[in-house]
Amino acid sequence: MKNGLVIFLGVFATLAFSWAGMLLAAHKQIGALPQFKDPVEQTLNPAPLTGIADQGRAVYQDLGCAVCHTQQVRYAGFGSDIERKWGERGSFARDYIREKSVLIGSSRIGPDLRNVAARPYASAEFFHGLLYAPESVAPGTNMPAHTFLYEVRPLAGNQPSHKAVKISGPHAPGDGFEVVPTSRAEALVAYLMSLKDTYNYPTEQDLNAPAPAKEGGH
Ligand code: HEC
Repeated sequence: MKNGLVIFLGVFATLAFSWAGMLLAAHKQIGALPQFKDPVEQTLNPAPLTGIADQGRAVYQDLGCAVCHTQQVRYAGFGSDIERKWGERGSFARDYIREKSVLIGSSRIGPDLRNVAARPYASAEFFHGLLYAPESVAPGTNMPAHTFLYEVRPLAGNQPSHKAVKISGPHAPGDGFEVVPTSRAEALVAYLMSLKDTYNYPTEQDLNAPAPAKEGGH
């Protein structure tokens, strides 16, 4: 093969250029973003995930929550996410630097979860109820139950565990029994409680400026 070296170099250059263009350029632009230090509060944003919330991120990934849920609030003008109150602002690249792998997702069978902990009704109790028996906290919901993340066990000495989840209505565990989250459920709920990107970075504010009105707009 006379032209072997030329072909090899050609293929190498093509791959090297695309690697540099797609990965290096993106890394330079957003991959090395640091935390932002609030000049008044002196806090670092975004705050790193706690250990248990980081474990919960792995559970979220493991259980495939990202198949039905996205984690990206679109800017005003790019969709109705802000009108739907899925967040007060669009998501910035910097919001994600606290996560080792980002679970943005691509299909929205359920609502976007990037800011789910900022919803007025959000609490650990609500998330446990939703995972154990979705109907018990959100009647008519399509969210699938994740009952296997909980243990239904008899009360020990008639004293409920301090971890027991309060479930009322037809899904209640019955007299003498309690619903206790497994460590996976606890980690997952800690992760859900961390999904709250409400800090307004002065550096990124322009990205959230209202989009210019479209011509002949609707
Ligand atoms: C088969 C698709 C599907 C999967 C898988 C799924 N969900 Fe959902 N989820 C939904 C739907 C649909 C809703 C909204 C239902 C409604 O409107 O009440 C929802 C609602 C929610 C909500 C409430 C959101 C809000 O705005 O109040 C949370 C939190 C949630 N899901 C977390 C999870 C977690 C964590 C997992 C993984 C363990 C998961 N979901 C897996 C479909 C899914």
